[in-house]
Amino acid sequence: MSTLKFAVLAGDYIGPEVMSAALRVLEHVAGQENLQLDYTQADVGGAAIDRQGTALPASTLQICEQSDAILFGSVGGPKWEKLPTKEQPERAALLPLRKHFTLFANLRPGLLYPELTDASPLKSERIPHGIDIVCIRELTGGIYFGQPKSTTTLPDGDVEAIDTMVYRKSEIERITAVAVTAARARKKQLCSVDKANVLETSVLWRKTVTAYIAEHAPDIALSHMYVDNAAMQLARDPNQFDVFLTENMFGDILSDEMAVICGSLGMLSSASLGARSNSLGKPFGLYEPSGGTAPDIAGKNLANPCAQILSAALMLRYSFGLEALATRMEAAVRQTVTSGIRTGDIAFGRPSVGTIAMTDAIIANLS
Ligand code: IPM
Ligand code: MG
Repeated sequence: MSTLKFAVLAGDYIGPEVMSAALRVLEHVAGQENLQLDYTQADVGGAAIDRQGTALPASTLQICEQSDAILFGSVGGPKWEKLPTKEQPERAALLPLRKHFTLFANLRPGLLYPELTDASPLKSERIPHGIDIVCIRELTGGIYFGQPKSTTTLPDGDVEAIDTMVYRKSEIERITAVAVTAARARKKQLCSVDKANVLETSVLWRKTVTAYIAEHAPDIALSHMYVDNAAMQLARDPNQFDVFLTENMFGDILSDEMAVICGSLGMLSSASLGARSNSLGKPFGLYEPSGGTAPDIAGKNLANPCAQILSAALMLRYSFGLEALATRMEAAVRQTVTSGIRTGDIAFGRPSVGTIAMTDAIIANLS
């Protein structure tokens, strides 16, 4: 019997509710497939600030270190908004976790089932078959982490703040390699997004991606696009992209745009992979829904558990090599939603069900 050893960091507001839904689904499939779940829950984010005084306690990091993957919920919310930015859950938990484990590759599938095109703010005729694209975002470099980063009061009394955007060729090459793998599993099309008409880092980005593809992946059809145009093209005709690759901050912004055109944040999963292999020789990764903590609906059995369940499926696929099982879980979510069982965020005025009933229906479709 193989054992799946992972850390469970549920976090704040709806985090624990959708996490318990994902764990129920995992328990169910583990029973079916004769797999042993060996997971450890740990505090993170606001919950960790409240209980242990810091958003990412050393004990949590240690539990993650001893695991083969991290299943992450979501962190942050109004309760901790008055803290200095550096101590807030998002910045003090998520960013250090990404950096600590060198999780440089963020894969965000932008998937809208054809049956849910109503959920998208785009006109249905622009997306007759839904949306099916992938954003690959560099996650541990660029302006998020570059030094210097400071705020200083100048001698004349004015105040100056500095962020620094830095990229090394090697960082661009390793994320390009991930994008190539993703593109090869799909249509072998890759669009690299940058701002090479203005930024030095983008000039290096474009040059490095071009050289990498020419040398290592001539089978991939590579195109380049400036980020402002990419923002526009995503809203105009998202399916012209198959896989797009971009640096950290551009990816943050474009992936939110992608999320909104895909209808509900409650449906979108993500995987952050890095340089490390886990004890199974597979990529160590952090898997989280894209939706955030949704404080307004927390504790009311209203949250859509699909994104967390789909993130658990990504964990099975990448960190545990269980491709067939991941596909089966994804199919069960899809079947549930398309059969009309939906949480409020994707119900469009039709009757909706709560988090628990939605999870029950997904489990029933897995039986
Ligand atoms: C995301 C989030 C984070 C980011 C925040 C919470 C720090 O917006 O994962 O996209 O900016 O990377
Ligand atoms: Mg973001």
